[in-house]
Amino acid sequence: MPALVLLGAQWGDEGKGKATDLLGGSVDYVVRYQGGNNAGHTVVVGDQKYALHLLPSGILSPGCTPVIGNGVVVDPSVLLSELSGLNERGVDTSKLLLSGNAHIITPYNVTVDKVTERFLGKRKIGTTGRGIGPTYADKINRVGIRVQDLYDESILTQKVEAALDVKNQILTKLYNRRAIAVDQVVEELLGYADKLAPYVADTVLVLNQALEEDKVVLFEGGQGTLLDIDHGTYPFVTSSNPTAGGACTGAGVGPTKISRVIGILKAYTTRVGAGPFPTELFDEDGEALRRIGGERGVTTGRDRRCGWFDAVIARYATRVNGLTDFFLTKLDVLTGWEQIPVCVAYEIDGKRVEELPYSQTDFHHAKPVYEMLPGWNEDISKAKSFADLPKNAQSYVKALEEMSGAPISAIGVGPGRDETIEINSFL
Ligand code: GDP
Ligand code: IMO
Ligand code: MG
Repeated sequence: MPALVLLGAQWGDEGKGKATDLLGGSVDYVVRYQGGNNAGHTVVVGDQKYALHLLPSGILSPGCTPVIGNGVVVDPSVLLSELSGLNERGVDTSKLLLSGNAHIITPYNVTVDKVTERFLGKRKIGTTGRGIGPTYADKINRVGIRVQDLYDESILTQKVEAALDVKNQILTKLYNRRAIAVDQVVEELLGYADKLAPYVADTVLVLNQALEEDKVVLFEGGQGTLLDIDHGTYPFVTSSNPTAGGACTGAGVGPTKISRVIGILKAYTTRVGAGPFPTELFDEDGEALRRIGGERGVTTGRDRRCGWFDAVIARYATRVNGLTDFFLTKLDVLTGWEQIPVCVAYEIDGKRVEELPYSQTDFHHAKPVYEMLPGWNEDISKAKSFADLPKNAQSYVKALEEMSGAPISAIGVGPGRDETIEINSFL
């Protein structure tokens, strides 16, 4: 039962795309199980750079079948333009499978996302504005539109009517916007039906049959553990479950099938959007991490907030995901610091706390307790094995491993596929 989950251990942008692509050559299926085009996954293959938002990063590996699972929310226009963009670059996308049960991000969901954020003012979440939250809200409210609805005009019309009934009241009376016409939405959505038809499948059946045949399935998370709606820094989170359990509900595969859960962990920390971030830096070190790490959002182009590594968060990610391994990324970015602070615990209202507090108030008050680790100056981007790393870089990795609670099985030393040190095989 070789089913692996690969997910973000922090606040997203840990390098999941690169890690997925690296494994893509050895797996049969790569499956997105939650989120939507709020994700931005960068994959660098040779001199080619790809930014994927909705498609699983396995789409770049010819032998691999990419799957968009039932737990994903899909903006059809984004999906179609991502597909045509890849086709223009010579990537074959014909194997893609799209769950008929995945929910559709409608134009009114995008509108509601934007107006809600505007009305929240300084309390806003800083969403990506892609309609993610409102689409999941419709799903839970049982007024969502699913991919399969595109193939029954009568059901589609009834569902759009039901969804817009209340929304139009809110849009016109509360937000002072124009009402959205049911016919227009239905017409637009029906326009996607034929184009998406070749991909639509019963992905739950396909994936479970594949697992029975001992095929290798990789579940690729979007976002990260601390952005999880249940386990993240609520309300400054996304509206889905990027944590490991989300792979089961978002793809229809039982937990007994999952054999390995890999946490992608950046050697420092970044966050996009609002919300608490104990190790955030506002000085030249933060600037340097942003500059050297190229920390600018792939989806929204926003500068990422940067800070030192936080072992409290890594331990928490190990616990809530049942991590078996870490893939440590961007170690090369830390080259050149004389000493590197690592957050080993928090001080909250005068008390030392070793584990992530469950209370939002406490987390807002958390101040990092730092341990200083010696840095290195040698270029590590060509390192191929752990032994190639300078002693202090080795000690940094070992220290992180000890604090984080799971073995570091791979280390990223550059954005390219081959700029990776493999310590334990994932397969
Ligand atoms: P994702 O959302 O988790 O897939 O991550 P993003 O693609 O949003 O951000 C990660 C960025 O770091 C991308 O630009 C990657 O090309 C880059 N990257 C990934 N791993 C490494 C690494 O080990 N070293 C360096 N320097 N860059 C990396
Ligand atoms: P990848 O997959 C980093 C953040 C947004 C915002 C919050 C809610 O590339 O790691 P949403 O639009 O999801 O309702 O926004 O979540 N966010 C991400 N931050 N990486 C991502 O994806 C993100 N997807 C959403 O910035 O704070
Ligand atoms: Mg990203």
